[in-house]
Amino acid sequence: MTNKTTALVTGANKGIGYEIAAGLGALGWAVGVGARDDVRRETAVEKLRAAGVDAFGVPLDVTDDASVAAAAEQLEQRGGLDVLVNNAGITGGWQQEPTVVDPATIRTVVETNVIGVVRVTNAMLPLLQCSASPRVVNMSSTVGSLSLQAANTDATGPISAAYAPSKSFLNAITIQYAKELGDTNILVNAGCPGFVATDLNGFRGYRTPAQGAQIAIHLATLPDGGPTGGYFDDNGPIAW
Ligand SMILES: NC(=O)c1ccc[n+]([C@@H]2O[C@H](COP(=O)([O-])OP(=O)(O)OC[C@H]3O[C@@H](n4cnc5c(N)ncnc54)[C@H](OP(=O)(O)O)[C@@H]3O)[C@@H](O)[C@H]2O)c1
Repeated sequence: MTNKTTALVTGANKGIGYEIAAGLGALGWAVGVGARDDVRRETAVEKLRAAGVDAFGVPLDVTDDASVAAAAEQLEQRGGLDVLVNNAGITGGWQQEPTVVDPATIRTVVETNVIGVVRVTNAMLPLLQCSASPRVVNMSSTVGSLSLQAANTDATGPISAAYAPSKSFLNAITIQYAKELGDTNILVNAGCPGFVATDLNGFRGYRTPAQGAQIAIHLATLPDGGPTGGYFDDNGPIAW
């Protein structure tokens, strides 16, 4: 490992992921900008570098085994990885009410939002296991809270058979990782950024991407012995 803390942020070319990269870079960390599009990735890397961040591009499509394996290889060649932020996510588009949803939509959303997280995490795990203070942050959402879904508030967004359940699935996966890795120093947590103005929601959110990035930065910088298997936003734990 190099002495400098190294992070990888998936889907870091725009939105909340870009601001997570900027925030971790401002701590003096080296930040891998994981992105699937060459032009969007290099534009983001250049912008981060211009802001003084030690950023480097990592070609990465979280749905593609070969792409993820190549990303892990690149990071290994660079000297390792301390922190993984699984931020890349999609809604699958609307409408997706259970009675009308195209099953392919569910499959696509789960492939990115859940299986993509597992694919990337498992590829990076051998590198994280060599770190002194490894952290995994999964960008979830309050829409994935079963408690809030059942409470029938509008906090969980539109009725959805793909996006909201994918975040419930991701929350469960987060708990399972934390249980399996409970006797290691790897802290695994899920975070919600709040309702943030990004492409994901047609910029209808009321928080800025920089505000939305704060929970991921907090969970990426937890002290040793900090919480694992948790689900948090800026106000603290979220009800599962
Ligand atoms: N915005 C909100 O209000 C909100 C609320 C709760 C949770 N979240 C979560 O926060 C995360 C970031 O969302 P955002 O609002 O910043 O959305 P965004 O602006 O749409 O950014 C999503 C990012 O994910 C990337 N991505 C999508 N599929 C990918 C794939 N297969 N491989 C690699 N990268 C991929 C996108 O890359 P391209 O540019 O190539 O498409 C983009 O960089 C998501 O997990 C989202 O569910 C957002």
